[in-house]
Amino acid sequence: MSSTAAPGTVQHEQTGPFPPGARFAAAAVADAGRYEAAGADRLAYWAEQARGTLSWDTDFGEVLDWSDAPFAKWFVGGQLNAAYNCVDRHVEAGHGERAALLFEGEPGDSRRITYAELAEEVARAANAFESLGVSKGDRVAIYMPMIPETVISMLACARIGALHSVVFGGFSSDALRSRADDAEAKLIITADGSYRRGKPSLLKPNVDEALAEPGHTVEHVLVVRRNGEDVSFTEGRDLWWHDVVPDRSAEHAYAAHDSEHPLFILYTSGTTGKPKGILHTTGGYLTQTAVTARDSFDLRPETDVYWCTADVGWITGHSYLVYGPLANGATQVIYEGTPDTPHKGRLWEMVAKYGVTQLYTAPTLIRTCMKWGREIPEEYDLSSLRVLGTVGEAINPEAWLWFREVIGASSGPGRPPKDEPAPIVDTWWQTETGGHMIAPMPGVTHTKPGSAQKPVPGIDIGIVDEMGEPVGRGESGFLVIKQPWPAMLRGIWRDPERYRDTYWSRFGTDLYFAGDGARYDEDGDIWILGRVDDVMNVSGHRLSTTEIESSLVAHEQVAEAAVVGAKDATTGEAVVAFVILNAESEQADPEAMEAQLREHVRADIGPIAKPRNVLVVPELPKTRSGKIMRRLLKNVANGDDVGDASTLSDPSVMIQIAEDMRTKHAE
Ligand code: PRX
Repeated sequence: MSSTAAPGTVQHEQTGPFPPGARFAAAAVADAGRYEAAGADRLAYWAEQARGTLSWDTDFGEVLDWSDAPFAKWFVGGQLNAAYNCVDRHVEAGHGERAALLFEGEPGDSRRITYAELAEEVARAANAFESLGVSKGDRVAIYMPMIPETVISMLACARIGALHSVVFGGFSSDALRSRADDAEAKLIITADGSYRRGKPSLLKPNVDEALAEPGHTVEHVLVVRRNGEDVSFTEGRDLWWHDVVPDRSAEHAYAAHDSEHPLFILYTSGTTGKPKGILHTTGGYLTQTAVTARDSFDLRPETDVYWCTADVGWITGHSYLVYGPLANGATQVIYEGTPDTPHKGRLWEMVAKYGVTQLYTAPTLIRTCMKWGREIPEEYDLSSLRVLGTVGEAINPEAWLWFREVIGASSGPGRPPKDEPAPIVDTWWQTETGGHMIAPMPGVTHTKPGSAQKPVPGIDIGIVDEMGEPVGRGESGFLVIKQPWPAMLRGIWRDPERYRDTYWSRFGTDLYFAGDGARYDEDGDIWILGRVDDVMNVSGHRLSTTEIESSLVAHEQVAEAAVVGAKDATTGEAVVAFVILNAESEQADPEAMEAQLREHVRADIGPIAKPRNVLVVPELPKTRSGKIMRRLLKNVANGDDVGDASTLSDPSVMIQIAEDMRTKHAE
């Protein structure tokens, strides 16, 4: 469960709900009519949105085919090309000179890429990928830093009809290998490296390591030169981007793909050790991301400068950095580095430099900025900001209010606050949902700190009890989605059974089980309470407890491990691991072991999975049937009372663990 304060309705000047500003509301892109239209006829609403926001080569017939539930088909028979929709058509409409990407590298280098230039770059890349044998239906793994070539590669895949599978650049070689293997990738696109906290950080060696063992399907590795570091090349397999792409023709005849043609696979953590390859298709995904990018952010492509700080390795980067904003023809900032390099004002300096109008970010980053102090953003002119968005985890009301006051109401150094602070949209959704599902509508909704509030138009959400029965106002239960939606996942890559089991078995195929707990307040607004399964949320990133446990027990000195998510003031949750060493290692220095195991997980999965604490314990709390009682460990990790340990086979175990935690890991 996340750290959100207890939900309730508070009506106070300083704590909300905050009505929309009159000027904002009068000019807003979306209005309450969207809710009415979608409420009157959901499918007609989506059909109208699909036709109104996208260009189709062949119009669709049936809007939704759910006859093979839970396998959905949206916009049946329609044909379109996602890359054409995101790039070329804006050039054809006369917006070729508009900036598509405003890239800022961590060292301060920058590139402005117009839609006309992007069209050429994507065409060249598509021609190059085809010359490397990539064709429709093939899979391409993209293991890249946040640079324009990453976006270009994704769009070039989409243009060809090849599925991209972006692997977050912070993941280890093992994680890359398992994802490339599962997707049977033909091509990996990577870079020599990137810049991280002022230093070059390498990516290519991880690809070499991932491909060191035979048995993979990768034929070529295409390498973008980003930081010029020395990297080794494997003859015949590896190619430089600059040798292969720039000489290609800037013309590429696209084919229209079926609305249900797969667009990409993106791996995410589930409750078991193996990440799931979430599959998204073309027409429905592009419709919902385009519509929600426009309505949730009040996006005006002619004048706005939109910035989403997510890495493209996550779904937020896919939907709200690539497909949603570009389908709208928006101008957006893309930043390579970390927010504290070279100084803690970097984000705000960039907002001022580019005149950013929408800033979409994660609560964890807001809390970090709060910690650094309001004096830092107060030095910059943030007056351009019109809409603020958050995603990834529940935002605690304190952070929400800080975001509103210090960022959203700022008119610049030394000037009085804005009379209409920028509205904040807290967006709930998942890798699986593809696009926003619950979010306020700026200019319409009276925003409430800490609550994602209401389903977006055309989305049907419920909160139900164990039996699948709806709960009332003031009650909590499981968050479910009651009707299929356009950007819904179409399955788990090559694992239809897991798809059924994970999402459509708890309440049958009538209700999609999201894995989150939620609650209605007295106004009927939705508050997300956090995961109800073994998935943790660290800095808005999904991590599986089982995946980290598997990594720990793979270490030769570990006999058993139990991992829980503990509350953390900055990252929302933090990974806390309890391990039992094997008999030969019992004499090892526990502190050295703990440091070594934290490092082990970092190297095995990636820095985001590194446990905050590892505690070597003599025993783990187990029920008489041998099940580890993670609930008790979670209490200990949170510094709470242990709770009811009466079902343990040996209740004294918990006393010992709690004592160790208190003495060694007092936070
Ligand atoms: O627990 C919810 C949390 O993040 C999970 C989805 O994670 P992922 O697939 O990685 O996608 C993150 C970006 C969309 C959800 O099941 N989550 C996401 N957004 C919110 C949230 N929890 C509370 N409030 C949110 N706005």
